[in-house]
Amino acid sequence: MRILAIETSCDETGIALLSVTGGAANPRAEVRANLVASQIALHRQFGGVVPNLAKREHIRNLPILYARLERKLRAQGERLRFDMITVTVGPGLEPALWTGINFAENLAKETGKPLVGANHLEGHLYSVMLPAPGQHHAAHSKPHTAKSPMRFPAIGLIVSGGHTTLLKMDSLVKWKLLGETRDDAAGEAFDKAARLIDLPYPGGPEIERLAHVGDPHMAEFPRPMIHEKNYDFSFSGLKTAVLYYVRDNPSVTATEAGRAGLAASFQAAAIDVLVTKTVRACREHGARSVILCGGVAANMTLRNALKGAVKKAMGAQCAFLVPPKRYNLDNAAMIGLAGYMAHLRGKKYPMRANGNLEI
Ligand code: KG4
Ligand code: ZN
Repeated sequence: MRILAIETSCDETGIALLSVTGGAANPRAEVRANLVASQIALHRQFGGVVPNLAKREHIRNLPILYARLERKLRAQGERLRFDMITVTVGPGLEPALWTGINFAENLAKETGKPLVGANHLEGHLYSVMLPAPGQHHAAHSKPHTAKSPMRFPAIGLIVSGGHTTLLKMDSLVKWKLLGETRDDAAGEAFDKAARLIDLPYPGGPEIERLAHVGDPHMAEFPRPMIHEKNYDFSFSGLKTAVLYYVRDNPSVTATEAGRAGLAASFQAAAIDVLVTKTVRACREHGARSVILCGGVAANMTLRNALKGAVKKAMGAQCAFLVPPKRYNLDNAAMIGLAGYMAHLRGKKYPMRANGNLEI
């Protein structure tokens, strides 16, 4: 089945074309195209995403990306055709989500193809099943397709700008929410801490870069809720601890070593909580695989820490799955897979923006 997927939940406009086969137990995706127009440079001057600017940019970018997709296929001697359209309906910024929904509805009317709503968080979860880039472009080779390497039960940790969500999965279409953040999301905490160290938006990659040269023990920041016997998270206290540290030690941000120490100390605390709670969930549920996804999963220090801790606690036979690097951040390829799975399990998300849609 060929799927045209559209993503506009935040500050990346995405359109992708996928060929997906295999059914709900073993979906295999070939990403024919994955086009992303990033608005980061625009929002950076405001220190964060401005919803109405995001909306304006999505409206401008969607037809441009669609035309680019048509050209790309034409260059390969093909016409753009698909059997189904899928679009993110939530969670995310509602003015931004609506632009994708409106575009998708018009396209469905024009083409007569069915339209299926997709959940952005499910997209992040399924992103670990997308083939690594390049693998499906190799000339003369068979198109590379991703197979589900997941074994169940699986523990899924979604860490993005808007979410910190821990799931227990019994299959690719059946899961239970174990816990989530009670205040700031992990990515949001990275972004806010970065602002306190005068780093530009989005702060996650900036903190990671700076943390490489910093002392993670410079400041012993709190590890909120790390010992509580639940799977919820809280990151706003950690951000406040950074704020107080900077207030009480005003000279710290004046030197590169001070800023790097702050970044490293903050990152160590955030990762410590994420890893500790995820590993505890693995033990409790006898996890046979662990999924780490969402924008913050791009963080190599987090990836390595969680991978190592899972291996130590669960043994090498517990698989550790992360998406190929380009699918960590928001993209439409993952939405194509989420739409396919929603379609197969008969999940019909209403065709309206739902900023708080749950997984
Ligand atoms: O999934 P995503 O692209 O958008 C949402 O669905 O929210 O995640 C964006 C978030 C931002 O908060 C960004 O700072 C964070 O992911 N992020 C990172 C890294 N790269 C992106 N956080 C930590 N380290 C990174 N390398
Ligand atoms: Zn996202």
